[in-house]
Amino acid sequence: MDFPSLHIGELCARVPIIQGGMGIGISLSSLAGAVAKAGGIGVISAAQPGYQEEDFFRNSYGANERALAKHLTRAREIAPDGVIGVNVMCRGHHYAEYVKCAVKNGADIIFSGAGLPKTLPSLVEGTKTKIAPIISSAKAASVLLHLWERHHHRTADAVVIEGPKAGGHLGYTREEVAMWGNGGYEEQIGDILKVVHSYEEKFKKKIPVIFGGGVFDKADISHYLSLGLAGVQMATRFVATKECDAADAFKQMYVNAHKEDITLVNSPVHMTGRAIRNAFVTRAEKGRIPPDHCFNCLKTCNPATTPYCITMALIRAVKGDVDNALIFCGANAWKINEITTVPALIHELTE
Ligand SMILES: Cc1cc2nc3c(=O)[nH]c(=O)nc-3n(C[C@H](O)[C@H](O)[C@H](O)COP(=O)(O)O)c2cc1C
Repeated sequence: MDFPSLHIGELCARVPIIQGGMGIGISLSSLAGAVAKAGGIGVISAAQPGYQEEDFFRNSYGANERALAKHLTRAREIAPDGVIGVNVMCRGHHYAEYVKCAVKNGADIIFSGAGLPKTLPSLVEGTKTKIAPIISSAKAASVLLHLWERHHHRTADAVVIEGPKAGGHLGYTREEVAMWGNGGYEEQIGDILKVVHSYEEKFKKKIPVIFGGGVFDKADISHYLSLGLAGVQMATRFVATKECDAADAFKQMYVNAHKEDITLVNSPVHMTGRAIRNAFVTRAEKGRIPPDHCFNCLKTCNPATTPYCITMALIRAVKGDVDNALIFCGANAWKINEITTVPALIHELTE
């Protein structure tokens, strides 16, 4: 292997690749376990992981907590010596409970974005679990690390930068995505590295910085490592693997997508998202799709006015009902033309 391993405190991933957490249900134990076994960091998404539990509709929180514990155990069985993380988004209800559940069930590291995870340090206090915020700008890095220092007297164990070519919800407006689409984002990476380095000095510890968003092949990884990053976070490529926890129809949407099919959407979460244009996206652009059930998943969602139910749109996606679902993807999903396996993909990306 040509690349150095990724060290986060005492954790060591042989391969400097983090598989980005993908909700709902796209990255559960099968994918995360396989990535951890292959030497990367496998990440389970804590966004409604209990969607397959029989009581999910009447008891979503209980089902999610049970499923998260189950998937952590399963991933650990697949990769007893691997590094396994959990992605918990701060916009959701029960944020603290999901983080604590992940810690209790042996998560090595918590990745947390979709807002500033201000309280995260207190939720892992006294445990070995590492914390890595996902941020999109130097300003966000600076504000969050300052808050953590001031209120919790600690800093991050790693920082993930999510760039404008990522999939799912983005930390950018449409205008920013358009602006960075033509390049120039690397200046931002440099600014974020500077902020993080200042905290490395203050806390006398290494804080690896990882970049995600549009990383597609080995040349991309080499490029980002050459900028001073310690690793990459990749999600889209891992969707097109046998081990990915989504239905085959979801994966085939990636295989069949053309460049012009990848679009930006306004998500009910009040964020811009990136997805594959399908009948659902077109319908949602024409008018509101009133939800018939509320899962009480988001602090910021009002079921009476939401343009559609994000949870239902993503559950239909993972189950393969692809015409009635939101198919999140990264900007480079159209480059994928086959389904592979996780070991073959890691080999292609590193050897
Ligand atoms: C299908 C899909 C679902 C995603 N879901 C989440 C999520 O639930 N939480 C999160 O923080 N990021 C999510 N992301 C972002 C990824 O974790 C990752 O950072 C990003 O997509 C990396 O860019 P790439 O897909 O171009 O490799 C998702 C991405 C995809 C493609």
